Amino acid sequence: MQRWQKRKTHFPLLALVFFVFIAFSILYSESNIRGIHQDQPPRDSNGDQPRSTVQDGLFNNSRPAQVLKVSNKPPVGIDKFTTCSSTVRYSGRRAVSAVHRAESGDVRAGSAVEGCDLFSGKWVFDNASYPLYNESRCPYMSDQLACQKHGRPDIEYQFWRWQPHNCNMKRWNAMEMWEKLRGKRLMFVGDSLNRGQWISMLCLLQSAIPADKQSITPNSELTIFRAENYNATVEFLWAPLLVESNSDDAVDHRMSERILRPDSILRHSSQWEHADILVFNSFLWWRQGPVKLLWSDEENGVCEEIGGLGGMELAMESWADWVASNIDPLKKKVFFVTMSPTHQLKEEWEPGSEGNCYDEKQPIHDERYWGSASDLSTMRMVEKVMSRLGSKVSVLNITQLSDYRKDGHPTIYRKFWESFSSEKLANPASYSDCTHWCLPGVPDVWNELLFQFL
Ligand SMILES: *[C@@H]1O[C@H](CO)[C@@H](O)[C@H](O)[C@H]1NC(C)=O
Ligand SMILES: *[C@@H]1O[C@H](CO)[C@@H](O)[C@H](O)[C@H]1NC(C)=O
Ligand SMILES: *[C@@H]1O[C@H](CO)[C@@H](O)[C@H](O)[C@H]1NC(C)=O
Ligand SMILES: *[C@@H]1O[C@H](CO)[C@@H](O)[C@H](O)[C@H]1NC(C)=O
Ligand SMILES: *[C@@H]1O[C@H](CO)[C@@H](O)[C@H](O)[C@H]1NC(C)=O
Repeated sequence: MQRWQKRKTHFPLLALVFFVFIAFSILYSESNIRGIHQDQPPRDSNGDQPRSTVQDGLFNNSRPAQVLKVSNKPPVGIDKFTTCSSTVRYSGRRAVSAVHRAESGDVRAGSAVEGCDLFSGKWVFDNASYPLYNESRCPYMSDQLACQKHGRPDIEYQFWRWQPHNCNMKRWNAMEMWEKLRGKRLMFVGDSLNRGQWISMLCLLQSAIPADKQSITPNSELTIFRAENYNATVEFLWAPLLVESNSDDAVDHRMSERILRPDSILRHSSQWEHADILVFNSFLWWRQGPVKLLWSDEENGVCEEIGGLGGMELAMESWADWVASNIDPLKKKVFFVTMSPTHQLKEEWEPGSEGNCYDEKQPIHDERYWGSASDLSTMRMVEKVMSRLGSKVSVLNITQLSDYRKDGHPTIYRKFWESFSSEKLANPASYSDCTHWCLPGVPDVWNELLFQFL
């Protein structure tokens, strides 16, 4: 950290390096997750059908947890070359932890404004106050999210304000945010959706400080934006499954199967443990069918296969154990961002029609709308894990408010690194990205919500 604090690097050069880094990482990574959430079948799991043999459900608690046998050898880390020697069914085992005592409070959300649920509301057209920044003037913009630059003809998606039902949100104020961040490390930890929120935060914040007082250090896993005059950082850590996995390489994680250590969070927690404000997410990477568990004490490389939701619950429990034993809510703030919705099936908001989010220009105004991609079992599981953590975590419950925003995705107006056949090109919906979000856009509002809680 000391090294680049001293180094006075010229800002445009850093921005350029950063672009190249982001471009590079996306080149290798995004086509993977994109493909999964579009109409192509997942290229996964050695021919396993997604969600086939393994029950993709919550645990069967009637089965007794197995006792951990203690291994003498320290476990070897998992990386992209890790394979399973064989795969058996999930045994019902859970990570054994000293901190399974339940604190069990209410899920904390909306505590910023007494008696008001900030996550329940509607989108209001407001082209006077929005967007909060200009796409082309943000030097940290990603080519994956810069929709105007890539030819999106409409711009109304940038003009929507989130209006909670029973109160108003405090207006976004970059200087006030910097004051809150003074002397602190704010770190986003998760997947490409969380990275989008981090880029949004950089765009929201950067114009308020001089260009020569900001710098960014690209690194494959942890990227750090530094604001010299506030002695503050805004960082992003790639950890799509939260626990250690074969997808932890931020650049190259196109794996044919997901292998993870459900009982090992140290690889990532050692990077995030000194942050003052932590914003986590995890969801889409669990939606590709079964995953393989490689427990730390497994010496013969035998994996256990479990459905994505079950795997996510195991990972969330390890994460929650870390939070329970390491977070003092008076000193640190931890947020968990709920699942980011996708819009693959137009028939869900317009019965009888075909297609997806392509060419959608308006939000959904039916307040009861809930898309099928926003998996309810996952939401219940997340609630359960959060309630055990009580006041140590606040939930940024962005699922439903983002679900209304079928107009907010890049669709075909982003950089794609693969080339498409003329057949595909003739049918734009077939390669539309209905997963990520254009910036300026929906993730700016997630950050405005975060701002309310700091
Ligand atoms: C849980 O497991 C027990 C014993 O294997 C079985 O009898 C029961 O039906 C299972 N329950 C569910 C909900 O799967
Ligand atoms: C905002 O939208 C209204 C209605 O569409 C339009 O008349 C007005 O010119 C717009 N203002 C700005 C600043 O774009
Ligand atoms: C953003 O900035 C560019 C370049 O300065 C300018 O041409 C464009 O009109 C701006 N866009 C908006 C929406 O203000
Ligand atoms: C800058 O912030 C770090 C924590 O991120 C702190 O350890 C350090 O003392 C601060 N330095 C100054 C000069 O305030
Ligand atoms: C998030 O909000 C939805 C309603 O929009 C609710 O059903 C769900 O329980 C909330 N999730 C959490 C974790 O609080």
